Amino acid sequence: MNILVIGNGGREHAVIAALRKSPRVDRLYAMKGNAGIAQLAECIDVDYCDVKAVGDYLDLHPEIDYTVVTPDDPLALGLVDELEGRGHRCFGPCRAAARIESSKAFAKALMKKYNIPTAESATFDSYEAAKAYIEQKGAPIVLKADGLALGKGVLLCNTMEEAEAGLKEIMLDKKFGAAGEKIVVEEYMTGKEFHPGEEVSLLVFTDGKTVVPMVTSCDHKRAFDGDKGLNTGGMGTFTPCPFYGEQEERETMEKIVLPTVAAMRAEGCPFKGVLYFGLMRTPTGMKVVEYNSRFGDPETQVVLPMLKTDLLDIFEAVTDERLGEIKVEWESGACVCVVLASGGYPVSYRKGVPIGIGELDPDVMLYHAGTKMQDGKLVTNGGRVLNVCAKGATIEEAREKAYRNAARISFEGMHMRKDIGIKYRVKK
Ligand code: AMP
Ligand code: GLY
Repeated sequence: MNILVIGNGGREHAVIAALRKSPRVDRLYAMKGNAGIAQLAECIDVDYCDVKAVGDYLDLHPEIDYTVVTPDDPLALGLVDELEGRGHRCFGPCRAAARIESSKAFAKALMKKYNIPTAESATFDSYEAAKAYIEQKGAPIVLKADGLALGKGVLLCNTMEEAEAGLKEIMLDKKFGAAGEKIVVEEYMTGKEFHPGEEVSLLVFTDGKTVVPMVTSCDHKRAFDGDKGLNTGGMGTFTPCPFYGEQEERETMEKIVLPTVAAMRAEGCPFKGVLYFGLMRTPTGMKVVEYNSRFGDPETQVVLPMLKTDLLDIFEAVTDERLGEIKVEWESGACVCVVLASGGYPVSYRKGVPIGIGELDPDVMLYHAGTKMQDGKLVTNGGRVLNVCAKGATIEEAREKAYRNAARISFEGMHMRKDIGIKYRVKK
């Protein structure tokens, strides 16, 4: 089969690398791809948020048998609906199911209706009503723009001043545009043992009925060591999550994962694809922080290397709603991903900076996020540039190997966190 993967980042590079291992995959294509992806796939220069243009491209290219849609915006824009409507087979949720990520108000209402544990919240489309509610609840409090805001629409407010300023930014100054027409005001949750919060990402494959959980992972969203600095798209990840034991697994599956998949079916928008549960372990149990309608970035970069089963077999089983018929297997052990970012990310940074890569250990995976070839040279092309991923018997072993190899890569202004994989160490 010839497969097209939609997207440009480290996540898509990891998906393409996993598909490359399938004996059933012939040619791979990426829209738009990057310099690393270009080593495995043919890159197609079409704007994937223009759903009609993607549909027209596929109509003209019958050699492409199957399309995998990974980024949030084309899913929210209905790319899967458009392609399926034209008779093309693909992987990813339809637009109505993707609302679980594209509208926080939808997600919160779903959890409320089906009793799925999450932070207490209220949704407003009026500034005055939101302000009155915030005054009643007091700080600390969390404000979330309803729509997609490049991961920046969440404001954790420690004081009333921050909350009032944040509300104004979202609803009056329209900092996140239409995404801020509605606002979700949420209880500020804290962790059970580690503070501020104990967060775990659980990604599952689902065909709308059967659920197959992947290995767990932990993201590091802040720019600097010790979870300091601004929120980013993710500065590194590791698998497995140290505090997610059998008890947490049972509770999460019974109270959160299975009820969410059943709720989406009951609402008439069964979710088919990868459903991402951003969870927090709180003093009152596991709770949903957020849902994503897709593979996480950079979670995918540590999760997929642990997959033993053919990824294309899983994708097709989801599309054909026969996920229950296949056995999905994972390696034991750990994997760590260190993100190499441009200096100044996530605020402002240069592009086009030459990248030097020394000799890496042969089993290290180097996924490209923001890179391109310019005059025959590899250069930076984004905030997150490269992902250095290594496996090991333990997180410590994987971590040591990832950092040893990251040290062999350099570009002007390169920034990485030095503490990926350290948090939530189980105390002995
Ligand atoms: P999100 O974009 O929804 O993933 O939020 C970004 C980050 O904000 C999460 O990973 C959490 O660390 C934090 N966060 C979001 N909602 C809450 C909440 N209700 N309580 C505490 N922290 C939160
Ligand atoms: N790493 C979090 C996300 O993909 O949204």
